[in-house]
Amino acid sequence: MATKKDTAPAEEIRTLRDQLNDWSHRYYVLDDPSVPDAEYDRAFRRLEELEAEHPDLVTSDSPTQRVGDRPLDAFDEVRHDVPMLSLGNAFDEQELRDFDQRVRERLDVDGPVAYVAEPKLDGLAVSLLYENGELVRGATRGDGETGEDITANVRTIRSVPLHLRGKNPPARMEVRGEVVMPHEGFARLNKRQQEADQKTFANPRNAAAGSLRQLDSRITAQRPLEFYAYSVAQLDGEDWPDTHSGMLDRVRDWGLRVNKEVKVCKGLDAMLAFYEDIMARRVDLGYDIDGVVYKVDRLDWQRDLGFVSRAPRWAVAHKFPAQEEITVLNEVDWQVGRTGALTPVAKLEPVQVGGVTVSNATLHNIDEIRRLDIRVGDSVVIYRAGDVIPKVVRTVPERRPDNAGEINLPTECPVCGSEILRADDGVVARCTGGLICGAQQREAIKHFASRRAMDIDGLGDKLVDALVDQGLIKTVADLYDLKAEDVAGLERMGEKSAANLIDALEASKKMPLSRFLFALGILQIGEETAKALAEAFGDLESIRRAPLLLFLQVPDVGGEVARAIAAFFAEEHNEKVIDGLLAAGVEPQSNGAPSRRFVDTLTLANFLSSAKTLGMPLSGVGTKTLETLGRHYRHLDALVRAVDAGEGDADTGVKAATLEKLKEGLGADDWLECLWTAEEYAAGLAAKAPAGGADERPLEGQTWVLTGTLARLTRSEAKEHLEALGAKVAGTVSGKTARVVAGESAGSKLDKARSLDVDVIDEEEFIGFLAEHGIKLED
Ligand code: IVH
Repeated sequence: MATKKDTAPAEEIRTLRDQLNDWSHRYYVLDDPSVPDAEYDRAFRRLEELEAEHPDLVTSDSPTQRVGDRPLDAFDEVRHDVPMLSLGNAFDEQELRDFDQRVRERLDVDGPVAYVAEPKLDGLAVSLLYENGELVRGATRGDGETGEDITANVRTIRSVPLHLRGKNPPARMEVRGEVVMPHEGFARLNKRQQEADQKTFANPRNAAAGSLRQLDSRITAQRPLEFYAYSVAQLDGEDWPDTHSGMLDRVRDWGLRVNKEVKVCKGLDAMLAFYEDIMARRVDLGYDIDGVVYKVDRLDWQRDLGFVSRAPRWAVAHKFPAQEEITVLNEVDWQVGRTGALTPVAKLEPVQVGGVTVSNATLHNIDEIRRLDIRVGDSVVIYRAGDVIPKVVRTVPERRPDNAGEINLPTECPVCGSEILRADDGVVARCTGGLICGAQQREAIKHFASRRAMDIDGLGDKLVDALVDQGLIKTVADLYDLKAEDVAGLERMGEKSAANLIDALEASKKMPLSRFLFALGILQIGEETAKALAEAFGDLESIRRAPLLLFLQVPDVGGEVARAIAAFFAEEHNEKVIDGLLAAGVEPQSNGAPSRRFVDTLTLANFLSSAKTLGMPLSGVGTKTLETLGRHYRHLDALVRAVDAGEGDADTGVKAATLEKLKEGLGADDWLECLWTAEEYAAGLAAKAPAGGADERPLEGQTWVLTGTLARLTRSEAKEHLEALGAKVAGTVSGKTARVVAGESAGSKLDKARSLDVDVIDEEEFIGFLAEHGIKLED
């Protein structure tokens, strides 16, 4: 007999399972969650805990047993006691009419017949066998006679009850239905697959099929599958109801999911109305359907009607018009969106898809074109779902003509001729002609005028549209040529508001440089980057002319952003607009000189490592080595000489092999030229920086040590200042230490400095020293 100690966990386990099963049923079957996920998770973990402590109490229908089992070698065969048949089709209204007439004639009834109308789910037919309420087998349809045993897999589907609900389950019951993958889960799965470099699925049906046919049910357990019951094939131990709809009610009571759209329709008009309604809502259902199934509701009538060949006479599938068609790809057009993004559009030989003529379809992006290996002249399959833009889903390779042409990303914008740049992710390609590209024109002007950019009061989106529509402006430079009388004539613009606009334009001429840069709408340049650029370079001219490598030294600017900035200013059309703005009197306000801090970062080492970031072949040469090289050679000519000599350097530890690699890198493409340009430009900037010149690194070659507590600045600030002046800051005092800065309660390092006769200064002296070198601390 069980002791009290043993019954308590058994009791708790039972209560938890009932509770979890109830919640699951509400969530997965009724779509009506009753408790927050956290509550469910807590109970689930408690059950897992108890089952781990009492393995003898684990049963196969416990909610914890849905995670999948060990992989199988193969699926067993299952012979269906009752064959799984298919359905006859009706492709249009007339064919449905004919079906209904045949039914009525056979049954010899005059009035309308009641049918159950159900969405025809586009998934996989599955049979579930329950004995005394327990799920004992799940099987695929196979050829209708013999299917495969996928019990382990169906057990992982949350809307499949492991145990039927209710006190008196039938002795034996076989329910049939469809396993589908909802759109949302499908999208998530494909994203996950892509991220993991695994194959993606063409549509939810294939994804559902692939998931159900997994030999490893642990994988199936991670796939978002749902089961909808639509018929009962065997029922022992209780009477059959009179109708199919009554049967579905019973199935629902047993805890299985029945599609909520299911409806009894009396006669043809009601059936057609159901069809139209569900077709209109098709895209919003969240799962794929490809038609409607009508079934005679009365089961005795179903028996009377019987079967013809392999399909019931009492049911028909009223199919939606085809969603896929084959046609020929005539050419590819590249469309430029409002943000400059390029999208390939397939120009097709017109074809009817789902009742609509399709002559354009999206191809997404160049990667997708490559992945699908699509060429101009190919026969392609077009897919169109509801109102969604049709898309090219695949080619038909066996129909490829010999002269099929490869599709390439254009190098110039088809609208404005500016250069096309691809983002680092390689997927999105954009036009760099932000200021002049007709496709982006309106967006560019709206952005320029916006509050956080040039803040031109009164120049809202509608007015920009009107000005462009009237041909009064094409680019932002044209704004400053506007006359009050031009504007006053526009709709909803009086003389007063026209005058205000001209004033606002005038006021905007003196905006800070950072805002002006942001207003230009350069790809990738947000407010922060614009500020950093303005602060670093100090004036617009220095930014406009700067070589690529310089941009990479600006805080937070990486390769992609640097390329975007350089490409923007290199674009002749953009140059013209900027010149136009300046000529119109726009005068961005700035420091007028580059920042010392920025100029100090324009070192050989930094240029080399940036060049590496941008693709200069320097594999195997790490940042540390580049630092050492940069510090040792200081200038490119010295480095080039060393590289040419090809001898290592014992002092720096630079090996001949490293120089060999550098030689390779510098020899590739235009890298040497790039570095020369950068160095030369940097020298020009350095000359303009406050207190410029190499003397600004007076501590070059010195090692300083900081010790004790500093009151006016932190250790890291002190370190930064010293480094800006060229010093190295070390953690230990040695004979080589140039100076020690000793704050409050300095300890052993101070003692050591004294014993080694190293120069020591206190905080006050240190602050004075910094001030002498142009570094002022904030109060
Ligand atoms: S009843 C004897 N009802 O359509 C009747 N089938 O072409 C058997 N299907 O293999 C099917 N939704 O996979 C029925 N509400 C529904 C359905 C449905 C989808 C599928 C099922 C079957 C195929 C028949």
